[in-house]
Amino acid sequence: MSDPVWTEDTSAAFRDLAHYAVPERELQVETILSLIPQPDGAALAMDICCGAGGLTAAMLERIPTLRVLALDGSQSMLETTRTAAGRDAERLDAALIDIADTAWRTPPEPLHAVVSSLAIHHLDGPGKQRLFADIHAALKPGGVFVMADLVEPVTAAGRRIAGDAWDAETRRRALDTDGTLGGYERFVAEDWNYYRLPGPDPLDKPSSVTDLLDWLRGTGFQGVDLHWMKAGHVIMSGVRG
Ligand SMILES: C[S@@+](CC[C@H](N)C(=O)[O-])C[C@H]1O[C@@H](n2cnc3c(N)ncnc32)[C@H](O)[C@@H]1O
Repeated sequence: MSDPVWTEDTSAAFRDLAHYAVPERELQVETILSLIPQPDGAALAMDICCGAGGLTAAMLERIPTLRVLALDGSQSMLETTRTAAGRDAERLDAALIDIADTAWRTPPEPLHAVVSSLAIHHLDGPGKQRLFADIHAALKPGGVFVMADLVEPVTAAGRRIAGDAWDAETRRRALDTDGTLGGYERFVAEDWNYYRLPGPDPLDKPSSVTDLLDWLRGTGFQGVDLHWMKAGHVIMSGVRG
């Protein structure tokens, strides 16, 4: 992977914490699925940095004619994704990539949908713009790109509000799930709240909501929209015309 900061240990830590640390994860997955039209017959989708494979598995289950190309830079994440897909794994192709590379961005056929959750912020601004252009080119006309990710607040107040909201949501999820604050305390101890970090981070490079929307529109996506936002996390989409 281009960035040595994300290791297999980071993957294991994320798998342990993700249930607590991803705001409204269940609503996020439903929102993303609701933006993917049912295809007329067989179709191919791509999940960029699929992680443990929850979204890939949900797409395979919800759309029985869909095949999913699930890509990630972590071997253990790809193995977890294959397991998560269960019997639907026959419609799954999981492959190792570096998100910054471009070779993987030319799929074997035009794509019905591209999704990515909590990963595109690993690229800097120019890297995101190149990726958006490559995704647009890889989609078939009418194909949709749905991105869930962290964003960069523009003001100190925005950063404080995002950080407070992320802590509060993680506390809530820990209490709702386990009846204890253990999951939240690990989230704090392991410095997962990006908005609490003192300065630029070598791994996480979120961009502002307005930049992301402008870049998507500038790439040629149509119907670019912001569907959900909580605790510095957003879901956006655009369609190739
Ligand atoms: C925060 S996790 C998100 C995973 C999943 N999409 C989710 O929403 O739970 C980030 C993912 O990006 C992957 N990743 C990090 N840096 C990468 C890189 N340079 N190339 C490819 N994958 C990378 C990690 O292995 C991890 O699965």
